[in-house]
Amino acid sequence: MNVAGDARIRSMGIEDLPRVIEIERALKHAPHWTQAAWEAVVDPNAAVRRIALVAEEPNAGEALGFAVAALAKPEAELESIAVAAPAQRCGLGRRLVAALAEELLHAGVGEVFLEVRASNRAALGFYAALGLTEIGRRARYYADPEEDAVLMGLRLR
Ligand SMILES: CC(C)(COP(=O)(O)OP(=O)(O)OC[C@H]1O[C@@H](n2cnc3c(N)ncnc32)[C@H](O)[C@@H]1OP(=O)(O)O)[C@@H](O)C(=O)NCCC(=O)NCCS
Repeated sequence: MNVAGDARIRSMGIEDLPRVIEIERALKHAPHWTQAAWEAVVDPNAAVRRIALVAEEPNAGEALGFAVAALAKPEAELESIAVAAPAQRCGLGRRLVAALAEELLHAGVGEVFLEVRASNRAALGFYAALGLTEIGRRARYYADPEEDAVLMGLRLR
C-alpha cells in the first residue's frame, strides 16, 4: 500500500483517543499527555480552540498518526504531531501538516509556531523539510531530562 497517499486525514474524535494515546506512548519523543488533556483536545467546548487530525488506513480504519494545533489567532501552536513508528518516513507527517495548514488558513490563522527538544533530530529534520525555520531558543525549557527548546515558525500566507 502507498501508506501516505492512501491514508485518510480526518478530524480526531473521542473514539480515537485510545489509539492516539497508544501511538503517543510508544514514541519516546512525542509529548505524553494525560487522558484529561486529550479529552480537552476533542472537546468542542474547551477553553482553547484546537484543530486535531488523524491519519488512518483506508481499509482497517486504524489511526497511524495525528497532529494537534491550538489556535491563538492570528497564530497557532503545533502542540503535538506523531506517526506510529512502522508508518514513519512514508509522507504521513507531511500530509498531516498540509491538512492542518489548510484548516488553519480557513480559520484565519496566518502563522504557526512550535517548540521542539534540541536533541530531537528527526523532528528538526522533518520541520526543516516542511519549510519551518528556527526563530529562537528557550534555554532549559524542558525538564526530565532538562534541555533547550528550539522555536520554529511557518508563515502560511
Ligand atoms: C516527526 C514525525 C512526525 C515525522 O513524521 P513522518 O511521517 O515520518 O514524516 P514524513 O514521512 O512526512 O517526512 C517528510 C520529510 O521530513 C524529513 N524527515 C522525516 N523524518 C526524518 C528523520 N527521521 N530525519 C531527518 N529528516 C526527516 C524528510 O525530509 C522527509 O522526506 P523524505 O522521507 O522524502 O526524505 C515522526 O518522525 C514522529 O512521529 N516522531 C516522533 C514524535 C515526535 O518527535 N514528534 C515531534 C515532536 S512534538
